[in-house]
Amino acid sequence: MRASTITAYRNDVHREQVIALWESVFGYESKHNRPGLTIDKKREVDDLFFVALNGPSVVGTVMCGYDGHRGWIYALAVAPSHRRHGIGSQLMAHAEDALRRKGCMKINLQILEENESVAAFYASLGYSVEKRVSMGKLLPENVPES
Ligand SMILES: CC(C)(COP(=O)(O)OP(=O)(O)OC[C@H]1O[C@@H](n2cnc3c(N)ncnc32)[C@H](O)[C@@H]1OP(=O)(O)O)[C@@H](O)C(=O)NCCC(=O)NCCS
Repeated sequence: MRASTITAYRNDVHREQVIALWESVFGYESKHNRPGLTIDKKREVDDLFFVALNGPSVVGTVMCGYDGHRGWIYALAVAPSHRRHGIGSQLMAHAEDALRRKGCMKINLQILEENESVAAFYASLGYSVEKRVSMGKLLPENVPES
């Protein structure tokens, strides 16, 4: 399989394919993680959102964020049919470059504890496990019903 093109997300071109990819890869259940909402919220803030293309087809995504202190990686996904061909690594390299250009000094990311294969993937890119307890709090007043 030839290398994918990594490019900026375009809402008019990529939206439906990204939603379909995320639904198949992540199967989100909570309202605040609905793919369309995630895309709309991200676009309100910045454009650190990239897709991997195979021809016209979206075969991967990554979002990142920079808050002036840390860079964060979100929504890294490669279509199951296209895995183990370096696309996830290409997406990560692109995201890291975007964060580096912003002056970011350190990148963090979270993975589910049971997702060991993803840990192996990130380890192959130089990430290591840091002992932290991850905490979160939902702000329900900002989560639309539909
Ligand atoms: C994680 C993911 C993005 C990797 O994408 P990918 O395109 O297959 O990754 P690459 O081909 O660039 O893999 C690079 C290296 O990572 C390691 N790796 C990747 N997937 C792995 C797996 N399932 N098990 C063990 N090692 C793995 C390997 O060392 C691999 O190199 P190799 O293929 O030469 O052995 C993809 O598996 C995925 O979308 N998973 C589901 C979504 C997910 O969990 N995202 C992360 C959210 S935190």
